[in-house]
Amino acid sequence: MTDSDKKLFGLSISDKKNLIERMRSRSRSETDKPRFTQKFSKALSRDIPEEYYKIESLPGLKQLQIHAAAAEKFGIENPFFRMHEAVASNTTWIGDKEYINFSSYNYLGLCGHPRISQKAKDAIDRYGTSTSASRPVSGERPVHRELERKLAAVHKTEDCIVFVSGHATNVTTIGCLFGSNDLILHDVLAHNSIIQGAILSGAKRLHFPHNDWAALDKILQENRSKFQRVLIVIEGMYSMDGDIPELVKFIELKYKHKAFLMVDEAHSLGVLGEKGFGIKEHFGVSANDIDIAMGTLSKTLSACGGYITGNHALVDNLKYTAPGFVYSVGMSPPVAAAALAALEILEAEPERPKRLRELGALFYHTAVESGLDTGLCQGYAIIPIIIGSSVLSVKLSNRLLENGINVQPIIYPAVEERGARLRFFLNSTHTEKQIKDTISILIKELNHLKRNPIYKLL
Ligand SMILES: Cc1ncc(COP(=O)(O)O)c(C=O)c1O
Repeated sequence: MTDSDKKLFGLSISDKKNLIERMRSRSRSETDKPRFTQKFSKALSRDIPEEYYKIESLPGLKQLQIHAAAAEKFGIENPFFRMHEAVASNTTWIGDKEYINFSSYNYLGLCGHPRISQKAKDAIDRYGTSTSASRPVSGERPVHRELERKLAAVHKTEDCIVFVSGHATNVTTIGCLFGSNDLILHDVLAHNSIIQGAILSGAKRLHFPHNDWAALDKILQENRSKFQRVLIVIEGMYSMDGDIPELVKFIELKYKHKAFLMVDEAHSLGVLGEKGFGIKEHFGVSANDIDIAMGTLSKTLSACGGYITGNHALVDNLKYTAPGFVYSVGMSPPVAAAALAALEILEAEPERPKRLRELGALFYHTAVESGLDTGLCQGYAIIPIIIGSSVLSVKLSNRLLENGINVQPIIYPAVEERGARLRFFLNSTHTEKQIKDTISILIKELNHLKRNPIYKLL
């Protein structure tokens, strides 16, 4: 061995080459897994049924396969995961065709607004695209606090904390604030994120009939004394049905039974209230009457993420204890900048929520007058048309697509079979003509489908 052949850690170049070659061949053999399968496969297949260790056997996939087989039988194309090639607002592009669009929560048409996109680009130029670690660890960016202060101001609360996902906001907030000695009461139609948070908390979980504060009162009378803390969770607008709770009644119950009240404003910010500031503004109640106010940035605010507003005690607690905040990356700066810019536009342009409410009322009244079933809908920004059959709903959605209208079906198990529906999300930029044309095409296509003897059986 020459001197030049000697390297760090005492390995010669040739030794090093041999070592690398050995490691490469080992990692190749590990990818193929012969060692492990040879060693353990007999024991495993003898003792444990395959469905317990094969990814392909997990129950979710089986359910999908059943749905796919049913869809094939009825000759139905999959209406989900359609590829949009442009900003999805009152119109969208799917493939190379433009459609009237009713499938986006872009309630005020702010996604794609030039000022919002520019603010996001400016934030990228200044901070890059990621904070790369959690905010406690990697530090704040000014835009995080600016967004939180603005959200707190809009909701008239002391403070706010933003999370990287709306779903995770509910899961981690409810999950970390409540525990096994507590009771969580939620509406039967509560969003999945609320239910997941309640499950994570380990608290006893009960639901009450939809929007039924009198039934909730009864449950509280019977159960309040058995638990330490009680949380009541409601939503500002229910996204499957487009209706709203009587907030004042729920506030009364919170005080009567010494409970906490949480309101999820995912679908009410930008929609309810003169200025679009949500359900509190709609009912003229004080922010202090709600202990935990939650919202998302992904809908009206055309960004991504969620937030909790409330007093300093709540926000400080979450900042140091909520796993979904402490152990998750800080919000991407351009996303925070986009939400902040959207909030500024919401504040400055109350004509947007006003127009949205007018269009919601137009869609709702036209549908009802045409004999369509709008379920519990109250005519704001979400209008369900109940079809009463999953197959028929999917088929109708596909027929509307062929007519240049994009609207999603909501089918079993997301709703019960007789509640299967098409769900229309309105946007302040829809035109009256788009709405009227859509309803008349829907009626024509529905009548056409119903004439087919197959659907008479459904
Ligand atoms: C009531 C409600 N809460 C929370 C969420 C989760 O929000 P995000 O989609 O922003 O994660 C949603 C989503 O649609 C929702 O409807």
